[in-house]
Amino acid sequence: MNILFIGDIVGKIGRKALKENLSFIKNKYHIDFTIANGENISNGRGISLNHYNFLLDEGIDAITLGNHYLDKKEELELFKNYDEIVLPLNSKSEYIEDIPFLKRSKEFIVNDIKIKVTSILGKAFMKEEVNDPYLSLATLVAKDNSDIHIIDYHAEASGEKEAMVYAFKGEISALIGTHTHVQTKDARIIDKETFYITDVGMCGDYNGILGYEVDSVIKRQVLGKNNVLLTLKDDGVRLFNGVILSFDDLSFKPLNINSLYIVSEKRNKKENN
Ligand SMILES: [Fe+2]
Ligand SMILES: [Fe+2]
Repeated sequence: MNILFIGDIVGKIGRKALKENLSFIKNKYHIDFTIANGENISNGRGISLNHYNFLLDEGIDAITLGNHYLDKKEELELFKNYDEIVLPLNSKSEYIEDIPFLKRSKEFIVNDIKIKVTSILGKAFMKEEVNDPYLSLATLVAKDNSDIHIIDYHAEASGEKEAMVYAFKGEISALIGTHTHVQTKDARIIDKETFYITDVGMCGDYNGILGYEVDSVIKRQVLGKNNVLLTLKDDGVRLFNGVILSFDDLSFKPLNINSLYIVSEKRNKKENN
């Protein structure tokens, strides 16, 4: 069983990076199931119904989100009923409080194998008020009977992500960090039991800042303005980040983790001729 996990897709250029890489990767690595983080897919903030449909059309099986999952509130009613959307398990938001805790984690059946996908928001340096990530995951894991359980741990702090994977090693199949948009070089298997990477990275503009337009990020982060971060058009250099998790088909034990960092060079009209 080979599972592909794709990092936060940022805006139009992120969608282009996905489109130009996905079918090649799926064929080359014999991917059975694909998860993508879609929290930034619609102009950098949230996910619209239109882009939800785009991801399904491209062959994504499960969509995790993150701290931006409520940015398109007008779509949320629809997402509550869509099986492919995985909402944050430990969110305290009033907008999803009517969705039972256990239903926020989703189970998918692939070749008779039960794959559970769960999204959790971290605590450190995050603005959102959340229920305790450890207690939330412990409650879920205690009732889990899946064969493979993949956690998207959406958090800022690397120490928090490492602590969580060691706390749950052997009880979950993988803890994949998201949110920082920068891929870390620490993809590994913890004690032969659980896949881990501190951050899988993003799909977006290679020459932006975390996928956003440089000047708008400098204004906000360096100069302290309260401006909106802009996303870029799709004509720049594209970055595609993901990890491939290979499991033993009988024991569902982790065999190999392969991180993908693919840069598509910009091609001008002359090169295309
Ligand atoms: Fe995020
Ligand atoms: Fe993100």
